[in-house]
Amino acid sequence: MLKVPEFESIYGRPPRWIVAAPGRVNVIGEHTDYNDGFVLPMAIERYTVMAADISQSSAPRILIHDSRARDTAQIDVSKPIAKADPRWSNYIRGVAAGFQNRGVKIPALEVALVSTVPLGGGLSSSAALEVCAATLLETVTGTKLDPIEKALLCQKAEHEFAGVPCGIMDQFVSVMGQKNHLLLLDCRSRQTELVPLNDPSVALLIINTNVKHELSGGEYAQRRAQCETAAKILGVPSLRDATADALERARRQMDLFVFRRARHVIGEIERTLQAAQGIRNSDWPAVGRYMYASHYSLRDDFEVSCKELDAVVEICQAIGFPGGMYGCRMTGGGFGGSCVALVAADAVDAITKRIATSYKIATTGDETKVGIEPTIFSSRPAAGATVIKS
Ligand code: GLA
Repeated sequence: MLKVPEFESIYGRPPRWIVAAPGRVNVIGEHTDYNDGFVLPMAIERYTVMAADISQSSAPRILIHDSRARDTAQIDVSKPIAKADPRWSNYIRGVAAGFQNRGVKIPALEVALVSTVPLGGGLSSSAALEVCAATLLETVTGTKLDPIEKALLCQKAEHEFAGVPCGIMDQFVSVMGQKNHLLLLDCRSRQTELVPLNDPSVALLIINTNVKHELSGGEYAQRRAQCETAAKILGVPSLRDATADALERARRQMDLFVFRRARHVIGEIERTLQAAQGIRNSDWPAVGRYMYASHYSLRDDFEVSCKELDAVVEICQAIGFPGGMYGCRMTGGGFGGSCVALVAADAVDAITKRIATSYKIATTGDETKVGIEPTIFSSRPAAGATVIKS
């Protein structure tokens, strides 16, 4: 059983509950979730873990010690929970407020928080934290939520307590991910299909550029607004209902940026379905082609890439089929964070070495050198949130 030694060393006794929720990597379907489209993420073998017990103090508060931030947060549960410092605690506050809004009484708790999901790596450390908190509160209060309701509660926490108008992908896969499967999620109907990915001849590599990605800066919200503008001009409820032809016909009615954002989304929804089919057929070269196409569209039309992400994709292209590389793209919201690459399993070590040495010295579009080290790891598709000790 997974242990959280931090709990014992902080609180002087073993925890009563331990729960975990994973980060995610999105294989394809980027910036499509809030356009009612399809996404194809998987949970990764990187987790946020909370160990907890009923508080031994009489104060009505949740005390959380975060070992990574080496910081402590206190949440008063005797009144409606609002935003407060430290900033990282807002994800937990938002989730706890969601339980309060459902009339659930939250007891005073002592919690130790540890995480192996990289922060700012575009691998959904925030969704992992939210879903972990929700799983803990379900376990502690005995209020089991329906998985969709749980994911939506966590998404609401992100909207209202972190200020990021995100879609539903990250929270859904952190709740519903399954070992050895990608999650094909229809973000309109919220129907899911598990797409097996357990062929031992391929692996997914996650390449963190170590350029911190940050979505609360306004660019994400602006992209979302541009997509909504495009849908309005096209006279459809969302870009899910738009076609490339209709967009082309309406080209002169919208500014060039809005046109390009919509072109990305319409193409990406189609690519996601085709890539899912490629995976069902084990047609890895085809899946790799869709991944590259997704990256170029995110770089040129949606404009959410950055020179370091582009450098990784260029290195992967140079490695190519002979080196065991099928395809690579930026993953997650963008503006830094990670790339995901589909590779031949027997080439993982060689590719990891090659990217590690080439990335730092790569010359970017503006002729400067990247100058930082990447972090590279592979992950099989992992299970969603779990109760480890109850
Ligand atoms: C972030 C958001 C998701 C999704 C991606 C882009 O990860 O949290 O909802 O929009 O960006 O695909």
